[in-house]
Amino acid sequence: MEFKSCLVFAIFMFIAIAQAEVFDITKKYGAKPDGEISKALADAWAAACSAPQPSQLLIPKGRFCLNVIEFNGPCKSPVEVKIDGTLIAPEDPVVIPKGSQWITFSYITGLKVTGSGTLDGVGGSMSWSTDDPKTTVEKGSPLQYNLFFNFLKDSSISGITSKDSKNYHANVVQCTNVTFENFRVSAPGESPNTIGIHVGWSKNINIKNCVIGTGDDCISVRDGSLNVHIEGVKCGPGKGISIGGLGRNTGEKPVAGVFVKNCSFSSTQNGVWIKTWPHSHPLDVSDIHFEDLTMEKVDNPVFIQQDYCPHIECKKDSPSMVKIRDVFIKNVKGTSNSPEVVKLRCSKAGKGCENVQISDINLKYDGPAGKAIQECQHVKPVYTGQLVPPGCAKSFEV
Ligand SMILES: *[C@@H]1O[C@H](CO)[C@@H](O)[C@H](O)[C@H]1NC(C)=O
Ligand SMILES: *[C@@H]1O[C@H](CO)[C@@H](O)[C@H](O)[C@H]1NC(C)=O
Repeated sequence: MEFKSCLVFAIFMFIAIAQAEVFDITKKYGAKPDGEISKALADAWAAACSAPQPSQLLIPKGRFCLNVIEFNGPCKSPVEVKIDGTLIAPEDPVVIPKGSQWITFSYITGLKVTGSGTLDGVGGSMSWSTDDPKTTVEKGSPLQYNLFFNFLKDSSISGITSKDSKNYHANVVQCTNVTFENFRVSAPGESPNTIGIHVGWSKNINIKNCVIGTGDDCISVRDGSLNVHIEGVKCGPGKGISIGGLGRNTGEKPVAGVFVKNCSFSSTQNGVWIKTWPHSHPLDVSDIHFEDLTMEKVDNPVFIQQDYCPHIECKKDSPSMVKIRDVFIKNVKGTSNSPEVVKLRCSKAGKGCENVQISDINLKYDGPAGKAIQECQHVKPVYTGQLVPPGCAKSFEV
């Protein structure tokens, strides 16, 4: 008898430990389908985050409106936020309080964001068209990111979809050891500033098996990023996977260790792209690996651009002072929309690009205007393996 009750107790304990306590926003916190859930979500988060044991905040299947939420840590125990429902942002960006993003996670260690849900930022004419008098640009308030991740550690984001953000889909700042896996991004190819995942001032960031189609860069790695691994990402439409633009502001921190591997690009403006501003501040970008990449109808499959200037006001003749070194480009194949399938436009300041190694290129120009070439300005890459088209015979100076 004693043994039996002991066993029952042991089984009970096992279940209690194995299953995190679930905080379902529709059970106790009053969230109703099609209702606005800011308060329910904030209350459920407060409970989950202060729970002494691991917990799960659940947004079940269904459609919910959400004006704004900040998930702030630190929490007592690891929390999983499981989003199976669809969250709808206000269409008018001014509804979201000034200075807030739509969904923010800050100061949390061991966060897991999971589920099969969709975060619909309802970008559109109110956010994306500057002609519209209601745009916040004119009202002096910036457009919101769908997701803002600040100071996260040992955390992961998987399964969910970010749709039609008003601005960047996911902004990752001051994070350490954060993994995105099977994260999806979807927005029209012509939507402005809708970067898929933007990383800055962060280290040990992994982006794996994500599908990103948007109007701006699929992934953008900015200053202060160390050890970023991007693998198995499908990009398109979009502007590619970029490092930069760098060197525009004083106090930017170096970028070191960016690995882009086994990714594919379809009808994107760029494939892999390093961009630095002309007339820039000194900065170091190093240890960059672009490997096993497939291009399909990409305008600029491999592009180092040291005169990046999307606005008219920059001093283009003043060279970039950003130094790009130790770049390894290996096994890139597919089709290009421009004849310059590999474009290395390095700065003439000192050694703008140092130690660029290229091996195994097979890129065809898919268009009427001549044949494919590789282009080198102020750089002499080291070539190995099979090269179609051949490497630059010489580096031309401009
Ligand atoms: C990184 O975070 C994951 C959780 O996402 C954790 O399992 C792993 O131990 C962490 N790695 C390090 C080196 O702390
Ligand atoms: C390459 O990435 C694709 C996803 O685009 C994935 O399915 C595949 O398993 C990856 N291959 C390797 C060798 O990692």
